[in-house]
Amino acid sequence: MDDIFSTRRSVRRFQDKEVEQQKITSILKAAQMAPTWGNMQCQELIVVRDREKIAKLAGLLSEKNPATLCTGKATVVFAVCGNPLRSGFYKGVQVTRYDQWFLYDLGIVSQNICLKAWELGLGSVIVGSFDHEKAERLLEIPGEYKLVSLIPVGYPDHKPTPPKRRELDDFVHYDTFSGK
Ligand SMILES: Cc1cc2nc3c(=O)[nH]c(=O)nc-3n(C[C@H](O)[C@H](O)[C@H](O)COP(=O)(O)O)c2cc1C
Repeated sequence: MDDIFSTRRSVRRFQDKEVEQQKITSILKAAQMAPTWGNMQCQELIVVRDREKIAKLAGLLSEKNPATLCTGKATVVFAVCGNPLRSGFYKGVQVTRYDQWFLYDLGIVSQNICLKAWELGLGSVIVGSFDHEKAERLLEIPGEYKLVSLIPVGYPDHKPTPPKRRELDDFVHYDTFSGK
């Protein structure tokens, strides 16, 4: 298989080459098309291009985070934020078992970003391990919104080895959980 689902990789080394605005816009349009809870579209995306801010964001990644260097080197970082009360809530009342559907929505938005970037010849990596509070302050995100992930994007500088996936047999169940 060589479709974008199987060839996409998390890329953690970028060339110095800047990502063109046209490609950034294509990525944003892919994010716009993501399905969301009740089509509430809870996402807010901050396109960080300011070199100083990108460097500061890289400094907020968890210690030994393998994405630190590439985040600092990226010419664009997407900060994926959302309003938690727009997914899974009607008029402020939680309507399903889960109160964090916004994370689900933002996961799909993030996947659209990464797959579109890949289709355009760009690498990306979803970064979830960083100091969220400090990053929210740096990006001046209002209190009712939560920053969930950072996605540095750039021209790949290498071809990462695909990490192993579980076999279908190992996680697919037919008809019931015990079904083979
Ligand atoms: C929610 C989420 C958070 C992640 N956080 C980080 C991170 O903080 N640092 C990092 O280097 N990679 C991070 N990753 C990337 C994963 O490590 C990567 O997707 C996984 O190892 C599989 O590799 P692949 O994307 O090349 O298939 C994250 C991925 C997801 C989905």
